[in-house]
Amino acid sequence: MRDESVIKNYSLYDDQEIDNTIRPESIEEYIGQSDVKENIKVFIEAAKMRNEALDHVLLYGPPGLGKTTLSFIIAHEMGTNIKTASGPSIEKSGDLAAILSSLEPGDVLFIDEIHRMPRYIEEILYPAMEDFSLDIIVGSEGNSRNIKIDLPPFTLVGATTRAGDLSSPLRDRFGIVSKLQFYTVDELETIIKRTARVLQVECDDEAAHELAKRSRGTPRIANRLFKRVRDFALVKNDGVVDLNITLEALKRLKVDDLGLDNTDHELLLAIINKFNGGPVGIEAIASSIGEEVTTIEDVCEPYLLQEGLIKRTSRGRIVTDRAYDILGIERKK
Ligand SMILES: Nc1ncnc2c1ncn2[C@@H]1O[C@H](COP(=O)(O)OP(=O)(O)OP(=O)(O)O)[C@@H](O)[C@H]1O
Ligand SMILES: [Mg+2]
Repeated sequence: MRDESVIKNYSLYDDQEIDNTIRPESIEEYIGQSDVKENIKVFIEAAKMRNEALDHVLLYGPPGLGKTTLSFIIAHEMGTNIKTASGPSIEKSGDLAAILSSLEPGDVLFIDEIHRMPRYIEEILYPAMEDFSLDIIVGSEGNSRNIKIDLPPFTLVGATTRAGDLSSPLRDRFGIVSKLQFYTVDELETIIKRTARVLQVECDDEAAHELAKRSRGTPRIANRLFKRVRDFALVKNDGVVDLNITLEALKRLKVDDLGLDNTDHELLLAIINKFNGGPVGIEAIASSIGEEVTTIEDVCEPYLLQEGLIKRTSRGRIVTDRAYDILGIERKK
């Protein structure tokens, strides 16, 4: 197998590997995010006591931290159905009207990538969120009229990696706004051990810990790395995931000690080599490594910032001393 294909397999950008069997279903199985979880538990309990739909929820944070998972858990805990849609796929007002009018009382409507919903669709959503009513225009030009349809009380759960791109009228209509954080190594270790149990793979503590350290604070990456290591273990180690096979697999997958992958390395090296460590604007970085600005901002940067490898300044991004140390590069004076 060529290295490129291995790297592509566990890349953060392909979303195919969402595996329903390892996705937690109840709030008790949802690890970490304790502040968000505790609050949501209270809101769910209160809504149930009042026999009302839960207030609308906006979940935001970097990819793979569990926004979709939490949305399904919210419906599960409320004991209701969930209907799903994604922002860019709702193109016509009729699409949204059809989804909204299919809802049962208390249902959850999950809209992923809600920041990519067209503005005119947003405007239909406002009265639906506020008064549970749908104002639509029917008929053709010259013979059109407004009709108002009552909707059952429902909960809109919106997910986005870019809360800043949401219009403020839309953002203001969410009663519950929660930001998901990167997970700690301990939390990721628990997630990996749970995944191992569910997939019935033997995995020792040291191996789980090593994988957790290299998962960029992200459960999706933890699970993905675990699945790849499981393959190496199956072929070379009787299926047992121990520290040795884990280290070997991670080396083959080119995941470094901090969990940084090729794109992270390219980004840091581009700033260092082409822009003398920065400051440099995001557009220049993006074009020098051939990535989209949004990919860099949403996928790479949050973790590099959190780990203190880059900093944002008013004049652009700079690479920190810590990054130079980790890469073993001397800073040019
Ligand atoms: N708190 C958690 N506990 C256990 N597993 C989790 C948790 N959060 C996420 N996962 C696992 O990580 C995977 C990715 O989570 P999810 O798809 O919910 O992320 P997301 O935030 O919706 O990502 P995106 O922004 O790309 O849509 C899930 O399949 C799930 O198995
Ligand atoms: Mg998602």
